[in-house]
Amino acid sequence: MAKLDSYVTIHMVASLDGFIARKDGAVDWLETSDEFAGGDNMDPEFIEAFLKTIDCYVMGSRTYETALRFEAQGLGWSYGDKPTFVLTTRELPRTRDSVEFHSGDLTHFVNERLRPMFRSIWFVGGGMVSAECLRLGLADEVRYSIMPILIGDGIPFFEKLDKDIALHLAEVKAYKTGMVELRYEVLQTNEGRVL
Ligand SMILES: NC(=O)c1ccc[n+]([C@@H]2O[C@H](COP(=O)([O-])OP(=O)(O)OC[C@H]3O[C@@H](n4cnc5c(N)ncnc54)[C@H](OP(=O)(O)O)[C@@H]3O)[C@@H](O)[C@H]2O)c1
Repeated sequence: MAKLDSYVTIHMVASLDGFIARKDGAVDWLETSDEFAGGDNMDPEFIEAFLKTIDCYVMGSRTYETALRFEAQGLGWSYGDKPTFVLTTRELPRTRDSVEFHSGDLTHFVNERLRPMFRSIWFVGGGMVSAECLRLGLADEVRYSIMPILIGDGIPFFEKLDKDIALHLAEVKAYKTGMVELRYEVLQTNEGRVL
C-alpha cells in the first residue's frame, strides 16, 4: 500500500521545443550563455539543501548509461549516495553500491516497493521512462526546467502519451541563466486521488 505522504516527482531539463537530448543523446546545449537580468541566482547552498530532501532516484537505462559516460569523463555522479534505481532488462555495469537494477511491473515497483520506503521519489529521465510513469498514473508532480534554446530535433521530454494529463501550475521561477523552472501538480493519480 502506498505511503500517503510519499511523493513522486518527474524532473527534467528541456529545450524550449521540448527535447531532453539530441537524437544521438548529446546534451551539450544545456550550457547556454543567456542572461536574464530579472532572474534569481542559483544559490549553491539552497541547491545542496534541496537535494538533501530527495530520498531516491529512478531512471531509465539510457539515462544511466549517459550518467556513466559523464562520470568516465570526470564530470562526476549527479545523484550523490542516494539510492538510485535503474530500470532495465539488460545486464549493465554497476559502479557503486547505491545503484540497484529493476525490471518488471513499474506500478507495483513504485507503489509497493518505493512509496512505503521513501518520501520524495525523483524520476530523472529519460523521455521513455517519464512517459511510462505518467501513462501509468504514478507521478504526483512534474518539474520542467526550460533552457533558453531551440534545438529542432531530439529525444522528446515525454514519448507519446495515449491520453491527456491535466496539470495544475504550482510554481514558476526564472533564473539569471535564462532557465525557467515550472512545477506542476498532476491532478489525477492512479489511485483516483485528486490533489
Ligand atoms: N535533459 C535532461 O534533463 C535529461 C534527463 C535524463 C536523460 N536525458 C537524456 O535522455 C536520453 C535517454 O532518454 P530515453 O528516453 O532515450 O531513455 P530512458 O528513458 O533513459 O531509458 C529507456 C530504457 O529504460 C528501460 N526501461 C524503461 N522502462 C522500463 C521498465 N518498466 N522496466 C525495465 N526497463 C525499463 C529500457 O531499457 P533496456 O533496453 O535496458 O531494458 C528502455 O529502453 C539520454 O540521452 C539522456 O542524456 C536528459
